[in-house]
Amino acid sequence: MKAKVSIIGAGNVGATTAQLVLQSGLADVALFDVAEGIPQGKALDLTEAASLWNVSTSCTGANDYAETADSDVVVVTAGFPRKPGMSRDDLLQANAGVIKDVAAETARLSPRAVTIVVTNPMDVMTYIAWKVSGLNHRRVLGMGGVLDSSRFRTFVSLELGVSPRDMEAIVLGGHGDLMVPLARLATVKGVPLESLVGKDRIAELVGRTRQGGAEIVSLLKTGSAYYAPAAAIFEMISAILLDEKRILPCSAYLTGEYGIEDLFMGVPVMLGRKGAEKILELELTEDEKKEFNRSGAATRELINKALAE
Ligand SMILES: NC(=O)c1ccc[n+]([C@@H]2O[C@H](COP(=O)([O-])OP(=O)(O)OC[C@H]3O[C@@H](n4cnc5c(N)ncnc54)[C@H](O)[C@@H]3O)[C@@H](O)[C@H]2O)c1
Repeated sequence: MKAKVSIIGAGNVGATTAQLVLQSGLADVALFDVAEGIPQGKALDLTEAASLWNVSTSCTGANDYAETADSDVVVVTAGFPRKPGMSRDDLLQANAGVIKDVAAETARLSPRAVTIVVTNPMDVMTYIAWKVSGLNHRRVLGMGGVLDSSRFRTFVSLELGVSPRDMEAIVLGGHGDLMVPLARLATVKGVPLESLVGKDRIAELVGRTRQGGAEIVSLLKTGSAYYAPAAAIFEMISAILLDEKRILPCSAYLTGEYGIEDLFMGVPVMLGRKGAEKILELELTEDEKKEFNRSGAATRELINKALAE
């Protein structure tokens, strides 16, 4: 039987992710949204495209959660994106309400699924989705680190004029302004970045990575980035469906790793059919640990605020 991916929220990120999944031929897609007609219209459009992509995947659109039943992967992109001048954290209250509804319904109908939360502020929404769903914490993940790392790789590759494919970099911590791009561990085909680019310039590239989302929001004026976010979500979906055991930076539930408990944070995760199958612990310097902890404290504060409402 073909795999099934349900995407909750048929907006920019959701619909673009649906396109990538369908085009890959990996799975059928159920697109859900509260807006009437939108998921149905986009699903029909995507299904018509499938014949031109030479794949046998199909897409359904619905305003009824029943359509999402028995999914292998559930992707949550429902909610509101940023407008210019807004931080991801400004979306807290509006999106927390959305996520509580979504997580309860999808967990009831697809108890075996791996859930990927995308809605911002993502680490907080991932925690809420896990709490509300009652799912095993290894089956709930947040997408942020794959996107942030791809932005870092892009900026470095533009600087050096090399292909981003040959650039290895990882961004840890929360998916917010306090994210932790690990420049120390970045390499170009094995050559340390720090031996190729000066310290001050690296600091600028790290700064641009931290503001990577805001840079696009300020250009678009309405809405936020979706092509690279969808590509990052697709990388996680395929690692899960193909049981690839890839090591990708994802927001995962920590039970003491990196000295942190009861929080979803961006860390290197081994991704497979069961979700976050393993968390890898990198040796961090004292400064990196401080940055990681600061980012964790900011996430915890927002979780407390959201759950107090
Ligand atoms: N984690 C990341 O790296 C990352 C990257 C990009 C965007 N995002 C976040 O993803 C979210 C979606 O972004 P977008 O650009 O697709 O926004 P969008 O406005 O284009 O789409 C959001 C969709 O959610 C729907 N929606 C609202 N409430 C709903 C509910 N209760 N149930 C189902 N659907 C509902 C809306 O009708 C809309 O179609 C935002 O919160 C954005 O900040 C996160």
